Amino acid sequence: MSGAEQPGDLTTAAALVSFRRRLNAWYRQHARPLPWRETSDPYSIWVSEIMLQQTTVAAVIPFYHRFLTRFPTVRQLADASEEEVLQYWEGLGYYSRGRNLRKAAIEIVNQFDGEFPRAVADLERLPGIGRYTAGAIRSFAFDLPAPIVEANTQRLYARLIGLDGDVASASGKSTLWSFAERLQPKKSAGKLNQALMELGAQVCTVSNPRCEQCPVPMHCQAFATGRQETIPTRKARPQLTHLVEATCAIHRDDRFLVRLRQPDERWAGLWDFPRFELSALKYEDRSTQRRIHKLIRECEESLRQELAVSVTQGELVHELKHGVTRYAIRLFCLTWELEGPTNIPGDRFSWKTLTELETTPMPVTGRKFVSWLKRRKNRVP
Ligand code: ADE
Repeated sequence: MSGAEQPGDLTTAAALVSFRRRLNAWYRQHARPLPWRETSDPYSIWVSEIMLQQTTVAAVIPFYHRFLTRFPTVRQLADASEEEVLQYWEGLGYYSRGRNLRKAAIEIVNQFDGEFPRAVADLERLPGIGRYTAGAIRSFAFDLPAPIVEANTQRLYARLIGLDGDVASASGKSTLWSFAERLQPKKSAGKLNQALMELGAQVCTVSNPRCEQCPVPMHCQAFATGRQETIPTRKARPQLTHLVEATCAIHRDDRFLVRLRQPDERWAGLWDFPRFELSALKYEDRSTQRRIHKLIRECEESLRQELAVSVTQGELVHELKHGVTRYAIRLFCLTWELEGPTNIPGDRFSWKTLTELETTPMPVTGRKFVSWLKRRKNRVP
């Protein structure tokens, strides 16, 4: 921000009052009716905020209703098993969010007798609650002042103050949090914070910001200097890593072998078919017969080494492509029929029918493979 104060700068009390008034008037007319905006229940607001991390509003809405129907209060969530909570989280991804939600619910029941704390410092001590989420709960549920900075507001603030540097650097973050603090009114902080986020989401968008629809252009340094397209500075996208994996459905009669993913693994706490990263295939390789043969041998060798399961005559039945964060995964789906006894350890493995798997928490690709297997079973008499 330039050192000299300019007429529209948000550095005077009068400018802040004008900014808030204009923003609130715009919000009254343009706010989307979102379910978590129709409640002041801190528990429901917290659930929505955790779901909205890294997931779009449209994708969250059905999950939000389903989750709150099954776990309507913090006590009911605290009483549930991790497995059931993950089942209701399935499809949202980033499962540590679901696990932390349950852990925090247990702490709220044990330490705060089931009542949500209001202080940012108390909220921030709970698993999975950072500074933004603490501010969101405090302001949306209790209408108490608390600064918020998340993706939409970060971009909006950077433009309002004309921040040239990196918004993710320590100094960028500190500038934005101080600015967010300055914007806080004594009263109706919840409404103002919602309005700030909504302006970022609907008008002050990443590309092609709709400055002609903005209620506060006279307070925007980026607009005043024509830099709304270049602030905040954009980082180059990280390069995609291409992975080739195989997921191995081994069945004995109508039961399939699944494995509980361990705490140090991706998708910890979910059940999955044994899965291996493959070295025999490149991401771009076409599935020729020779390569398929190689792929099946490689899986059989991994199953022998890692599970002491001896199988032959595997079949490549399906192929899935899946993107998660910076990974592009090509997933080969294979099946084997297992005959005879095995000594697979019982604690991390289980034999489940397809019907049981339908209510078992699984990663998205595991779930897709189950649906495929179910469709195949229904086709074959
Ligand atoms: N993204 C994160 N929190 C949100 C909220 N409360 N409303 C709309 N979008 C959001």
